[in-house]
Amino acid sequence: MDSFTDDAEFITCDSPVNIALIKYWGKRNEKLILPLNSSISVTLSQDELRARTTVAVSRNFKEDKMWLNGREQSMKNARLQSVISNIKRLCRKRKSDNDQVNDKLQWKLHICSENNFPTAAGLASSAAGYACLVYALSKLYGVDGDLSKIARMGSGSACRSIYGGFVIWNKGEAEGGEDSKAEQIVSETHWPDLRVLILVVSDQTKHTGSTVGMQASVETSQLLQQRLQGVPKQLEKIKCAIQNKDFHSFAEITMRDSNQLHAVCMDTYPPVSYLTDISHHIIQLVHAINQDNNSNMVAYSFDAGPNAFLFLQEKDVPTVIDILHYFYPSSDPNFIRGLQVPAKRDVHVSAGNQVDYTVFSDLKVIPRALKFIIHTQPGPGPTVKDSDCGLLTKDGFPLNLNNANGKI
Ligand code: DP6
Repeated sequence: MDSFTDDAEFITCDSPVNIALIKYWGKRNEKLILPLNSSISVTLSQDELRARTTVAVSRNFKEDKMWLNGREQSMKNARLQSVISNIKRLCRKRKSDNDQVNDKLQWKLHICSENNFPTAAGLASSAAGYACLVYALSKLYGVDGDLSKIARMGSGSACRSIYGGFVIWNKGEAEGGEDSKAEQIVSETHWPDLRVLILVVSDQTKHTGSTVGMQASVETSQLLQQRLQGVPKQLEKIKCAIQNKDFHSFAEITMRDSNQLHAVCMDTYPPVSYLTDISHHIIQLVHAINQDNNSNMVAYSFDAGPNAFLFLQEKDVPTVIDILHYFYPSSDPNFIRGLQVPAKRDVHVSAGNQVDYTVFSDLKVIPRALKFIIHTQPGPGPTVKDSDCGLLTKDGFPLNLNNANGKI
């Protein structure tokens, strides 16, 4: 007996989050999502943070449908439509004489996407989500080619999640955006002892989204114009620090760029403020640690939200984790998640195995300042998963539904 979706085809893919070291902030073309400056990011491991997307086509599907974290979404989203139509266009261009592919392009699509990290953590997920959707659709329709340009149409920063390791998004010059695409600088294996601690702060204030925030900065901030002149030099400097695994310089360039982004946000009128008191406390603590160490041991970077992304080397993870435990005490047994913290070497340990914090005496201890910490590292780009990881039933509907909005 024929099942409902005998001719259905399914593809499931995973895709990573990326965090910018030299930030993208401001567009020269809103519709095509063309940036005012090039940016550089590091792609994070998918063991701790990833988007997973299953896409399916079937002649029996009645309409295009999409579910995100178990909730049905409207398909009337200009960016989503632009991503789907651009992938289909690429497919038609390459395979115009293949009837089977042409059939598939006519069939309706079901899309189901989930993140493996709590949405409430306020971690940017649209980059991973759009990169995953573009990658999965490219496999479904059998197209390769420059996927980063299509991911860019979903969300600018998503184009960098198409590659692993360190990635540059070249702003490009062409009016139509043909040369505005991402490119890998070095793979995730280049700097094996680089680690990332994501400090998820407790009070997630409701803040302006990055799309709206950067648009306001373009319209009103003079400092943004000044920043744009300095970015090319910073890009060259950080590329060099990455190639040479020069942590001290890498850290300074990263922190300066994050600070500049948030200065531009404050120079926006009315100002946009993403950092909370806890974010500022983290900034002060990092500078105190680095000063005490006479060289940079940790760097911070903040996107359009209060969570801190700390960069450090594997050897320093135990020391920094101890310091974070001390200043941000938590009773959560699952406070540190992700990679195991390596055994402690002897930095800062005085008699009785106590860490010496006297150098940080100006700073207050703030219990429950952080929800939790994710310990992770650079990782690879998107991958295709086995069908048993799929998020849709054989009939093309979500395995996990979250609420009454999700209709089967
Ligand atoms: C601060 O990529 O979210 O994270 O292109 O409008 O979707 P849209 O914006 P988005 O902006 C990211 C801003 C940032 C910096 C960065 O990732 O480079």
